[in-house]
Amino acid sequence: MGVVSKCLISAGPTREWIDAVRFLSNPSTGKMGYALASEAKKVGLEVTLVSGPVCLPPPPGVTLIKVESALEMREAVLEEFQNSELVIMSAAVSDHRPDFLSFEKLKKDKFPDQLKLIRNPDILAELGEIKLPSQTLVGFAAETEDHLLHARSKLITKNLDWIVLNDIGSPLTGFDSDTNEVTLLSRNEESVSLKISTKTEIASGILEIIWK
Ligand code: CTP
Repeated sequence: MGVVSKCLISAGPTREWIDAVRFLSNPSTGKMGYALASEAKKVGLEVTLVSGPVCLPPPPGVTLIKVESALEMREAVLEEFQNSELVIMSAAVSDHRPDFLSFEKLKKDKFPDQLKLIRNPDILAELGEIKLPSQTLVGFAAETEDHLLHARSKLITKNLDWIVLNDIGSPLTGFDSDTNEVTLLSRNEESVSLKISTKTEIASGILEIIWK
């Protein structure tokens, strides 16, 4: 039996808790990341999915690691990274977290008028720094303007092999949509566009391109 390659995928939003009932987050539903995990399994990869809180069932045959915050996601992803030949960060990681956490519910008259925020670590950029030439590292760029410019910049600064540019400004390609349309850019200056399609078909197309 041949050696099965390992694939690590992150998906969904992260939650940055403020108190027992409030958090900072974003509208990511995890649909794209879960579709990627499912399609990666179908093409014969051994898949670990690190997921923020979503309402989706785990794809069959995939190892699911559930996390909430960006710091928890970072820990889980770093733990799995070295064993993975293909790594796809599709999670919508919160860039900031509040500088305090109350385990009690803060009464409204105690809730601060202003929240002080701390920058979360950029998990993908960290992976780009430690990645080996044998590993394929893929990021997503969620953009609403100057799409190609920002995506190219993330490809280079985070030292990625591929970046998947996703226009999140349109209802057909945004967070909760069942469809998507993406452009993949590679470090070798290749560019491939996948026209509007279901997220399953887009996931399958992405894997065909990045995992030959
Ligand atoms: N990402 C990450 N850690 C973060 C923020 C983002 O690993 N703290 C990853 C995402 O999973 C994605 C890529 O970086 O693969 C780009 O994320 P995106 O939200 O598009 O951009 P940012 O790098 O956060 O930059 P900006 O918010 O300025 O667009």
